[in-house]
Amino acid sequence: MGTLHSALRQAELIQDTTRTFGAMGLSAARSLPVAGQLFTPSPRLPLFGRVVFITGAGRGIGAEAARQAHARGARVALVGRRLKPLQQLAEQLGEGAAAFEADVRDLDAMQRAADAAVARFGGIDVVIANAGIAPPSEPILTIDPEDFERTVDVNLLGQWRTIRATLPAVIERNGHILVVASIYAFVNGALNASYAASKAGVDQLARALRVELAHHEATAGVAYLGFVNTDLVGDAFAQQQVSEARSIVPELFTKPIPVTQAGRALVEGIESRAATVAAPGWIRPLLPLRGIAGTLMDEFMLANPRLSRAISTVERQNHRQQA
Ligand SMILES: NC(=O)c1ccc[n+]([C@@H]2O[C@H](COP(=O)([O-])OP(=O)(O)OC[C@H]3O[C@@H](n4cnc5c(N)ncnc54)[C@H](OP(=O)(O)O)[C@@H]3O)[C@@H](O)[C@H]2O)c1
Repeated sequence: MGTLHSALRQAELIQDTTRTFGAMGLSAARSLPVAGQLFTPSPRLPLFGRVVFITGAGRGIGAEAARQAHARGARVALVGRRLKPLQQLAEQLGEGAAAFEADVRDLDAMQRAADAAVARFGGIDVVIANAGIAPPSEPILTIDPEDFERTVDVNLLGQWRTIRATLPAVIERNGHILVVASIYAFVNGALNASYAASKAGVDQLARALRVELAHHEATAGVAYLGFVNTDLVGDAFAQQQVSEARSIVPELFTKPIPVTQAGRALVEGIESRAATVAAPGWIRPLLPLRGIAGTLMDEFMLANPRLSRAISTVERQNHRQQA
């Protein structure tokens, strides 16, 4: 009897392992550029008639994703900390768009926004956890602690609060949550550590969520965006030390893409329930090589005298200001 039980247990183990490796192979195939589309999981999630809840929808990538989702026939809940731009966008979009004021730093406010969106539209199919900020570009030694902690609070904990508040509604609709991260989830964040740390955290959040949602037949994905032409990037690029840091890599890697391209990548990623969204295109082949690419980038930055000079210049300036 004991032997039979143990044999059955072994068979079960082999079956589970085979299934796991099969799923891993499929998932690796899906991450291939272009050909990966052949392995897209079904069912897809066409946005027509769906309800999409978007944080940071007042401007930038969030507003563009809202426009494109709405153009595909979705109803959009525009969420953000300032009601006026959200209302203006809702008016521009017309029927099927509504504004909800909520700061992602406040879980109760996020819950109220989620409940209000459900009351207004009958449910939530998709969440784009997008709201985010970039701190002034400073080294860890001299950045104002409030700037550092606010960045993590908005970018990482804000995504968590958005997800927590909307998750039951999304599960009820077998929906999808797209978390907006950045290449800074794996690119060295020198002069931008709070942002990079928050985006690496968001990456982990989304990956864990995808696994936890599987048995609910709901999905989650993470968007690795490069530089996108929005206020966030405009403000960052205006800083001298950022210009210095940009000058150490070929322009191709830091040239901002139009916000329409980022918005399209997000909505297409949602419709295919993609585990990862990458824009611009050069980011996609880096994803399976993140470990080695990250190490090489660290070494490249460590060895770069221009970057070291930029970091020490900012440190000196800030020490002088603080003295
Ligand atoms: N632009 C890029 O190159 C780039 C690249 C990779 C990833 N991302 C990520 O994409 C997301 C959107 O960035 P973006 O470039 O579109 O920036 P953006 O133009 O500055 O827009 C950010 C949006 O987030 C909102 N927001 C900020 N703090 C908030 C809070 N506490 N509660 C609620 N909403 C808040 C802003 O509202 P207000 O209008 O009230 O400030 C604004 O609507 C961010 O997560 C960013 O990290 C951007």
